[in-house]
Amino acid sequence: MSPQQIACEQHEDQVGLVPPAALQMEHVTFAYPGRARPALDDVSLVIPAGRTVALVGPSGAGKTTIAHLFLRFWDPDKGIALLDGHDLRDYRLDDLRRRVALVAQDTYLFNDSLRNNVRLARPGASAAEVDAAIERAALTEFVASLPDGLDTVVGERGTQLSGGQRQRVAIARAFLKDAPILILDEATSHLDAVSEASVRAALDRLKQDRTTLVIAHRLSTVRGADTIVVLDRGRVVESGPHAELLARRGLYARLIAAQMMAAAG
Ligand SMILES: Nc1ncnc2c1ncn2[C@@H]1O[C@H](COP(=O)(O)OP(=O)(O)OP(=O)(O)O)[C@@H](O)[C@H]1O
Ligand SMILES: [Mg+2]
Repeated sequence: MSPQQIACEQHEDQVGLVPPAALQMEHVTFAYPGRARPALDDVSLVIPAGRTVALVGPSGAGKTTIAHLFLRFWDPDKGIALLDGHDLRDYRLDDLRRRVALVAQDTYLFNDSLRNNVRLARPGASAAEVDAAIERAALTEFVASLPDGLDTVVGERGTQLSGGQRQRVAIARAFLKDAPILILDEATSHLDAVSEASVRAALDRLKQDRTTLVIAHRLSTVRGADTIVVLDRGRVVESGPHAELLARRGLYARLIAAQMMAAAG
């Protein structure tokens, strides 16, 4: 039986019960080649189907590494990463990557038209579908301001896009791909207030009706998550909803306090 068939049967069995885990890690340890210290050290976490889990923690804690293991850019040294209850290694790679969309911290643009840069998420997409994705990613106005609209060449030798614009291209790709599971790795670079608001609105639309793992640098954006997982030096140090974590006065509460101090200048 294929993993897909097994997953379908599980869904039927579990109707009305606890939602099945869409993505899960069990005791995952992973070190990058040549590195003695593991980037992830005995990490367990669950992202139930249809829910939003936020991942927070200091720079270098291992957040992006978790995203990359879920897409199988790397495999765990120990432990197991699962999709719908099955080892990721049981899926064909293209099948896995069709189901999981990643909006990465840094979006690479190919030296090609903006249209083709968006369309690579689903090469068979029609012009109308590309337009719809552009619209939902709050890029319509920007596209109208370009000399050749969607045919404008962007990337290395073309028109340069700002961080916020590039992230919205990534969001447009994710809309076009329409995968059931979404991993958002929030940009670290500071976006201006206008880009920030339009990126935020586009992301909120994208998250609707999807299982989402959001890696957040601005903690104000994670309050609404069902669960917040706090990572520090490769280990999960606490997890729970916002109010519960604040009351614990642990790392999450300290990160919130530090960001509020920084914002107050
Ligand atoms: N390709 C790589 N090769 C070797 N080490 C890496 C690689 N990518 C990340 N690391 C190391 O792994 C650790 C975790 O990095 P990771 O990128 O997952 O952190 P992060 O939590 O996403 O940080 P940030 O908030 O800055 O994005 C860091 O110590 C980093 O230096
Ligand atoms: Mg990162």
